[in-house]
Amino acid sequence: MRDETLWWDEERGSLFLVNQTQLPSRYEVVECRNVERLAEAILCLEVRGAPALGVSGGYGVALAARTSTTTSYSQFLEELERQAELLKATRPTAINLSWGIDRVLDRVNRENTLQNAKKAALDEAQRIAWEDADTCVAIGAMGATLLPDGCTVLTHCNAGALACTRWGTALGVIRSAIIMGREIRVIASETRPLLQGARLTAWELARDGISVTVIPDSAAASLMRKGEIDVVLVGADRVTEEVVFNKIGTYMHAVTAHHHQIPFYVAAPLSTFDPVSKEKEVMIEERGEEELRLCGDRIVIPENAGVRNPAFDATPLSLVTGIITEREVFFPPLDIPRILSAQPPL
Ligand code: MRU
Repeated sequence: MRDETLWWDEERGSLFLVNQTQLPSRYEVVECRNVERLAEAILCLEVRGAPALGVSGGYGVALAARTSTTTSYSQFLEELERQAELLKATRPTAINLSWGIDRVLDRVNRENTLQNAKKAALDEAQRIAWEDADTCVAIGAMGATLLPDGCTVLTHCNAGALACTRWGTALGVIRSAIIMGREIRVIASETRPLLQGARLTAWELARDGISVTVIPDSAAASLMRKGEIDVVLVGADRVTEEVVFNKIGTYMHAVTAHHHQIPFYVAAPLSTFDPVSKEKEVMIEERGEEELRLCGDRIVIPENAGVRNPAFDATPLSLVTGIITEREVFFPPLDIPRILSAQPPL
């Protein structure tokens, strides 16, 4: 079992991914030899989580470059653009996917020979992967002191090592606090319908010996009312000037935390920030009905009842106590352009 969630294999010219649809029952690795296979892996959530999607997007362009057989440089660039569009269309909400793709495309466009462009694509994709690991460790260090010794943290979905190359954003903060000597207990809300909290967060924390208890999403409010949750800490798929987009159910936790005066923190790399889009312009992915209609093989919703399955929601920044980035923790007023232009502290 490797520490990384995804990695490049130079000998095979492939991207390898831990298949997150099989956890916790089976640890299985998927090999992506071309963009089509990677697009399928992203669509069915074999790889998922905003930072991991950013890294996958970068490697996707490197795969497109590697598998291209054309000898015409202009045709090569056109092919890359086409494959990039295919990848971007898989999951629209997390900005990291298009960020990773565009970063590698920009790098390729600065070259002027086919050979250099192919090498540049892989170099840049690998740089994104390495930076992601360092960024998560920095986010962990920035946020660790926000978690008091002995506290219980509620987290939603999976913003851990599995959602990044390693360490994690929200779970990275928890790991760093534990390394500092703090005792932390984690409550993972199961995250209906695909159960990223129950299957993935619980798997990776339990594997590392961190205390974790899974609850139904609907139990969070009651536990907050009883004083059993001290902090809520989640990741993000996109942070705009007005809202934080994250897994469906995040808004519900934020409203409830606000009502009970419990701090609500978001941990996210600066690559997740989007200073341009308005809330209404961001497409919230609606996933297939079958994710709700079926529980295993069993039909649990009558055929003539409708189903809605939005994968993400938006939490207004007014409900956020602080945003933990690799550069610093930002507190209200959360001015996103200011955050993006802030210099690292000396
Ligand atoms: O649909 P998913 O599993 O890709 O959703 C993931 C989330 O919502 C995570 O909380 C988010 O990407 C942050 S990961 C560090």
